[in-house]
Amino acid sequence: MAAIEVTPITEQDIPGAIDAVQQGFADDPYNHWIFDRSKFSAERNRASLGLRCKWGMRNALFFVAKEAGSDTVLGVAMWMRPKPLTSAAAQSSWTDWFESWRLWLDQVFMNLWYGRGGLNVKRYYIWKSSQSLIQHKLWTNPGGYYFCNIVSVLPAAQGRGVGKLLFKTVTDMADREGVPCYLESSKDEPNVRIYEKLGFRLAGNLDCDDDGVVCKLFAMIRDPQVPQDLQGPQGPQPDNSTTAVLDHPSVCN
Ligand SMILES: CC(C)(COP(=O)(O)OP(=O)(O)OC[C@H]1O[C@@H](n2cnc3c(N)ncnc32)[C@H](O)[C@@H]1OP(=O)(O)O)[C@@H](O)C(=O)NCCC(=O)NCCS
Repeated sequence: MAAIEVTPITEQDIPGAIDAVQQGFADDPYNHWIFDRSKFSAERNRASLGLRCKWGMRNALFFVAKEAGSDTVLGVAMWMRPKPLTSAAAQSSWTDWFESWRLWLDQVFMNLWYGRGGLNVKRYYIWKSSQSLIQHKLWTNPGGYYFCNIVSVLPAAQGRGVGKLLFKTVTDMADREGVPCYLESSKDEPNVRIYEKLGFRLAGNLDCDDDGVVCKLFAMIRDPQVPQDLQGPQGPQPDNSTTAVLDHPSVCN
């Protein structure tokens, strides 16, 4: 495989990014819980992911991984920037407010056109409320968290370092700023092990329970680490000049 490059997503990458998400999540337990597979519409799902991609281009840190010289998207990652948990800064800006309404309206039009495509709306709200509970419990860093909203690698390209590079783009940034990262995975095996290798630790579980039909999600946190170029030859060293990192101890423990 040629060298992998991670770059910000462009309009041209969107169809490939959607393929990576649809294929990566084809056997995902959350997907199977939230969609009625007998009514699932891949076309509606594509339209929904297309809206989410366009929203992500405007509002998130959004990257694709490709082999050098190739246009094929092998993997995609979308991250939300940290938002302070309290204080006036935590209030939504006008842009956030406008963007969430824009996405909501786009989704309303999409639903009018395609229908729900098998989406179980009751379960969607069960998930949202479980997510809000666990985040309320686990999120203690006042400056907030880099939040991994989507990460997916084409099945044929998995296990070859693509996911690691996609993560590194944002975890390097987080380490420099001394900010923790957060994700929720619906797969225990092998994802929890993979994310542990990338520096995350299992912090809690979400049980999304629809009258006994449960979807379990795994909440993981990565505390900021000393950036590699600030580590001495013996590995990580305490360095009083790296205040951005050392001013943020692992507040999530
Ligand atoms: C989870 C996912 C993003 C990881 O990306 P990937 O490209 O397959 O992972 P990488 O090849 O970069 O591997 C990252 C690390 O995990 C390890 N790893 C990879 N696959 C593994 C497996 N099956 N079991 C244990 N460790 C594994 C690698 O060895 C590497 O560790 P190292 O740096 O110490 O060698 C990818 O597998 C995926 O898209 N899965 C399907 C969709 C999904 O579940 N998305 C996540 C929702 S939260």
